[in-house]
Amino acid sequence: MRINKYIAQSGLCSRRKADEYVLNGNVRVNGQIMREPGYDVLPDDRVEVNGRQVEADEKPVYYLLNKPVGYITTMKDEQGRPSVADLIGDIDERVFPVGRLDGNTSGALILTNDGHIAYRLSHPKMLVYKTYRAMVKGVLSKEKEVRLRKGIDIGGYITKPARTAVLEQRPGSATVEISITEGRYHQVRKMFKAVGCPVQTLERISVGEIRLGRLKEGTYRKLTPKEIEWLKSL
Ligand code: URA
Repeated sequence: MRINKYIAQSGLCSRRKADEYVLNGNVRVNGQIMREPGYDVLPDDRVEVNGRQVEADEKPVYYLLNKPVGYITTMKDEQGRPSVADLIGDIDERVFPVGRLDGNTSGALILTNDGHIAYRLSHPKMLVYKTYRAMVKGVLSKEKEVRLRKGIDIGGYITKPARTAVLEQRPGSATVEISITEGRYHQVRKMFKAVGCPVQTLERISVGEIRLGRLKEGTYRKLTPKEIEWLKSL
């Protein structure tokens, strides 16, 4: 987090005032005067303003991002690829994504700085259904749906029970919704591949009670009080 945000979040002053403190040499990081307003405070840094230590006291925040295809689910990519961090630049708090979506999957991604909620939401024991809308190749017969629902071998692992609904079957492709409680690597793609219907496009449309709705790709919104209440009830 930029040092002005960090100081402002300690409750000491506004960001603008924090910038002034930095430029005037009133701020030390780990004992050294820091005059660089763009300095990014690291987790172990000790920040002092006029000789007094300050700590950013972040309140928990919860957001829903509609991740576009082509962005990876990380806050920093060593190889400089587009990542979700590029889409949430104006969120002040140090949020992180809960779980992950493949680069070529779009849709609902929750971001928070609340580690407890992140843990509970991702834990398969919590039985939170994550729903995906997939465009798949071929015909998704009733028999294949039953196999997907009951649990299917995706290379040495049998998936947990799932829910499915075929929204539309066209001559050579189908649009299907599938809800799973797990989040294994490439799980949905592997499940459809296992029944001979490879995924063409994949979008996550909900995480439990939190639905993507009309949120535009590449944008985010705050979770509603009701959604936060649901998260906390887990
Ligand atoms: N399953 C996948 O195959 N990909 C995702 O991004 C999420 C679930």
